[in-house]
Amino acid sequence: MKEAKKLKIAVLGSGKGSNCQSIIDAISAGTLNAQIVCVISDVSDAYILERARNNGIPAIHISAEPFITKLDGEAELKYIETLQKFGTEVVVLAGFMRIIKKTLLDAFPSRILNIHPSLLPAFPGMESWKQALLYGTKVAGCTVHFVDSGTDTGPIIIQKVVPVLDKDTPETLHARIQEQEHKAYPEAIHLIAGGRIQVVGRKAVIS
Ligand code: GRF
Repeated sequence: MKEAKKLKIAVLGSGKGSNCQSIIDAISAGTLNAQIVCVISDVSDAYILERARNNGIPAIHISAEPFITKLDGEAELKYIETLQKFGTEVVVLAGFMRIIKKTLLDAFPSRILNIHPSLLPAFPGMESWKQALLYGTKVAGCTVHFVDSGTDTGPIIIQKVVPVLDKDTPETLHARIQEQEHKAYPEAIHLIAGGRIQVVGRKAVIS
């Protein structure tokens, strides 16, 4: 039987890349029919690049200067050019600490994903696990969603829930959430690779 075509994904990250690793592992285990065509980071010594190199994946540093928090201007164009050069079909943000602007969104319409460490729409923005602890919620979790022009507002693909324990510190809660992130991201990409997600208005409908 002919094998289904692999989805070509590019992973963008600024940090340790544990989500990227979970995607690499799911591909190796045969549970995700995808190929990581490149890993790009705005941080030259981010460990996510090391993980890519260790797995024979092109690891590319592209500075996002002169901006601090967004990907814009010349840098944004360099990212788009590189993503296109590698034949990227879906862009996977995994701890990429930059706001994505219109030109990149338009280059990959409904084809940019993000993972966020809360049950959106609760606690968008930074360090959401701390926000959940401070607020005193009894559950927390993670969300994989399409990226749109808002902050953590795009259509939701998958969410996973974890309990918040009285004895939790920011570190223990974040670790519990990350365990679920490492399941949620490969699952969400698997659905996309299988053509099983259709965006209808605000909803990502799974067939
Ligand atoms: C994750 O907690 C993710 O939810 C957030 O950034 C973190 C990235 O972690 N967007 P890692 O670099 O994948 O380990």
